[in-house]
Amino acid sequence: MRPALLLAILIATGSGLAASPSFTVDATRSAGKVSPKLYGLMTEEINHAYDGGLYAELIQNRAFLDDAKSPVHWSVVKDDASDAAIALDPANPLNGKLPTSLRLTVTQTTKDHPAGVANSGYWGIPVHPKTQYRASLWARAEAGFSGPLTVSIISEDGRTVYASEKISGVASAWKKFEVTLKTGNVAPTAQARFEVTLDQPGTIWLNVVSLFPPTWNDRPNGLRKDIMQMLVDLNPKFLRFPGGNYVEGNKIEDRFPWAKTLGPIEDRPGHACCWGYRSSDGLGLLEFLEWCEDMNAEPVLAVYAGYSLQGDHVKAGPELEPFVKEALDEIEYVIGDPNTTWGARRAKDGHPAPFKLNYVEIGNEDYFEQAKTYDARYAQISDAIRAKYPQLKLISTIPQAKLDGRKADMVDMHDYSATDEFVKKSGNYGADMNRHGPEIFVGEWAAHEDATVRPWEAAAHKLPPTPTMKAAIGDGVFMAALERNADIIKMHCYAPLLVNVNPGARQWRPNLIGYDALSAYGSPSYYAIQMFSRNLGDEILPVTFSNTSVQGCATRDSQTGEIIVKLVNPELTPQSLPIEIKGVTALASKATVITLAGNPEDTNSASHPINVVPVTTTLSGVKPSFTYTLPPNSIVVIRLKARL
Ligand code: AHR
Repeated sequence: MRPALLLAILIATGSGLAASPSFTVDATRSAGKVSPKLYGLMTEEINHAYDGGLYAELIQNRAFLDDAKSPVHWSVVKDDASDAAIALDPANPLNGKLPTSLRLTVTQTTKDHPAGVANSGYWGIPVHPKTQYRASLWARAEAGFSGPLTVSIISEDGRTVYASEKISGVASAWKKFEVTLKTGNVAPTAQARFEVTLDQPGTIWLNVVSLFPPTWNDRPNGLRKDIMQMLVDLNPKFLRFPGGNYVEGNKIEDRFPWAKTLGPIEDRPGHACCWGYRSSDGLGLLEFLEWCEDMNAEPVLAVYAGYSLQGDHVKAGPELEPFVKEALDEIEYVIGDPNTTWGARRAKDGHPAPFKLNYVEIGNEDYFEQAKTYDARYAQISDAIRAKYPQLKLISTIPQAKLDGRKADMVDMHDYSATDEFVKKSGNYGADMNRHGPEIFVGEWAAHEDATVRPWEAAAHKLPPTPTMKAAIGDGVFMAALERNADIIKMHCYAPLLVNVNPGARQWRPNLIGYDALSAYGSPSYYAIQMFSRNLGDEILPVTFSNTSVQGCATRDSQTGEIIVKLVNPELTPQSLPIEIKGVTALASKATVITLAGNPEDTNSASHPINVVPVTTTLSGVKPSFTYTLPPNSIVVIRLKARL
């Protein structure tokens, strides 16, 4: 261990002798390079993160496969002068991949009393003013019926039609129809539904009924703009996908079926996700990769490694071989030349150029496996990947020492802890890390307020889906620890990232970003991460903090010479802290200070989205030694400029 590090630990743990508080940044030397990929995002289908979240599709159960017995999320539209019935119909499938369609039989209807079917969306259909929605559906009709169909976005009480268009030409063969629905200058609301109605009796069949608002970068089958903006604002350098438990599935057959998530949406059957609902797979492998490109972040691709959440595993050896091939094919889809089988498929899907890929994670949280078979599975999968793609860095989900002699380039360590625990352990975090061992990826972490309610039981306890300022303090001390150790900790990401806040939509807390159908908001933890990731130098500067409960870190931007100090005050009282920047004779007298502060219970929500947000101020009279008073329960970033 480096002597300076040891000294920092001794002081941080209270073994120092100095009597008054101090925070010293040693600017005479660097303790290592900050990984340029330190801050990234982790993503998985949980809490309706994609369907009903980032994936902009507004129709829930568009392919009628969410429930085998009834067309859930769909209802009959009729009034006292019209009548209709709906049913799932396996006898009239759209194709071999979507085996059930919806049969709509209208027996009584007129122009003034239409009858049909409505979808309630993901907790409402969002209506925004002066907005164009892309509606599409596949339809066929019984002989003799040719329509028209009317598709509308309409208020829940049926009284206000926000946008409406006619579709004609429905015939006995399946055909895709597309229309644009335009809203006027209306007040935003999510108390709306999507309808397909008939104004003359007849029977039709529907499938892949879809409605998209404008999407990020205007991509068809794309992502929700407001949530994407929030993600881009975090300045992420990588995206870990598709899980998490989502890559594993509850059972082996429920693993992320990447090959079935490709191509037109009418070719995607979806699959059971491990959080109690079905994923449409509209956000499939190609969309994940394009999402990375749209954020200028690189993928950290997790491949299925033969272990699923409920404990099943595939035995290493011949039984695992088909899964090894699946992983190799998946990587080929991402980076294979267009003249390879899966590279050609990617080109056909619209992306001839290989994507950027450096990191592949083998499995997820295999340390939970009772049977302890990961070493053999890792060996078989990593051998195959290394033989074909020696340039890739491989991430294991258990420590290197347990890998039976195989090498991991990086180890993924997860950490969900209560704020008090993070405050306690972050001061000397990293002291026992092997600086010569594999690099470290903290691929999931989050502070929660206390440990009394388990994350997956929070919704039942009616706890809010996103964390409070108290949790953000835990996040802050932990991120400071990660930055101090950013020579060996190369990447990290908070989890889970996204939550649809509607009761019934969520399975976990805390989560970083909340949203309903209409809008999205960041939790205090979101703003804490944003402050950290957007204010980062490339050199780690050693820090010592003594006789204070304030924790922190410092980095320097080697291009500009700017020193960025991050401080976290977990106390409920202001903390006056003498700060010394050692080795610097002069600093610009004005510094930029960004502060996130609030009572521990303060938080943001869909109705109060910006209750707790960072505030930027200018600090005057800065010298290499100065005293700064941190507000109670606060995270503070100070950008110190070299004197020009
Ligand atoms: O982020 C929620 C879950 O926590 C992840 O899916 C899993 O990897 C972890 O246990």
